[in-house]
Amino acid sequence: MKKLDLRIPGPVPLPEQVLRANAQPMINHRGKDFTARLPVILNRLRPLFGTKENILLPLTGSGTAAMEAAVVNVVSPGDSVLVLVGGSFGDRWLQMCHRFGAKIYAIHYPWGEAADPNLVSEYLKQHPEIKAIFVTHNESSTAVLNDIQALAEARSDSDALIIVDAVSSLGGTPVEMDAWGLDVVVTASQKCLMAPPGLSFICLSSRAREVVSKTESLKYYFDLSLYEQMLESGETPFTPNLSAFFALEESLKLIEEEGLEQIFKRHILLRDMARAGIRALDIPLLVKDEWASPTTTSVAPLGVDVDKIRLMIRDELGVELAGGQGQLAGKIFRIGHMGYVTPLDILTCLAAIEIAFKKPGQAVAAAEKTWRFKDESGIV
Ligand SMILES: Cc1ncc(COP(=O)(O)O)c(C=O)c1O
Repeated sequence: MKKLDLRIPGPVPLPEQVLRANAQPMINHRGKDFTARLPVILNRLRPLFGTKENILLPLTGSGTAAMEAAVVNVVSPGDSVLVLVGGSFGDRWLQMCHRFGAKIYAIHYPWGEAADPNLVSEYLKQHPEIKAIFVTHNESSTAVLNDIQALAEARSDSDALIIVDAVSSLGGTPVEMDAWGLDVVVTASQKCLMAPPGLSFICLSSRAREVVSKTESLKYYFDLSLYEQMLESGETPFTPNLSAFFALEESLKLIEEEGLEQIFKRHILLRDMARAGIRALDIPLLVKDEWASPTTTSVAPLGVDVDKIRLMIRDELGVELAGGQGQLAGKIFRIGHMGYVTPLDILTCLAAIEIAFKKPGQAVAAAEKTWRFKDESGIV
């Protein structure tokens, strides 16, 4: 019998009630059932964005759609922007800003490390013309969690907007849009929100809305003024991904039941268990503890064919891990532990890894200790 545990950094496995909701019949997206439900869903998402104030808009499309919406609505051709690149998703911001005609300043930081806020403040002092800074909260390609609050503070008296890709962090680790002064935050349905892919969200501060109202780039599907206007009557300008909305209504119930604080704690525990298990196998982790992501762990085994082992773990043992991307392809594998994941899921995943590395019991024992035994004296 084949059973596959999906342990990649999104899309994530979906809870049963979410899957059932996803299969509901279609309704009229211009009818009063949907137009009453849409504002409610958006309000329920607000605590996850850490905002009471800002405008939150739904898009049909994956996370990259929301990223593109951010770029075309904030950047006019010729505007100067600063892009922080330390992995594939930072690089995606860079490619997009380039395509849409921005004048680009880039800080390339090593893949596997975090962006340095001091460099950002130096850049802004040297280039006061910079209008927007594009950053990645959780760089899923490396499994680094950037300190967005510190990066936002590094602007000091600069007026630059800060635009945050929170696709693989929001709902798994704190995002405090209001408190940290973030201007644009984007996320997607298929990661910590535990819904299917195909729905993304963009949240804009009032400063960002002012910029957006004056931007001169060409856009149609992602013209956010249309979304804002239609939201007044509870609608989206184009046919929304209704199935994903139905699913999200259910997954938000689970999120609300567990509570954000507990969810954040659970993600930290999953990360610590994964890291303890890998360390017990004497396999290097790509990322230092201080930057380690609560939603993804990157493992960098030496002297082996990493992809061969990863595929053996999938085909023979039934756990699907993600490979490396870009310059890390063939060098790392990644364990996704966001959303609908429990400590026992991590034990299963580590069991498969320790079997593949021929070290039975070692990773699981270390992870169990992290989970249930705080010291030698007994179960917590
Ligand atoms: C940090 C980050 N940003 C953006 C994306 C792109 O999202 P999507 O694949 O939904 O377009 C991903 C997807 O893995 C991601 O992890």
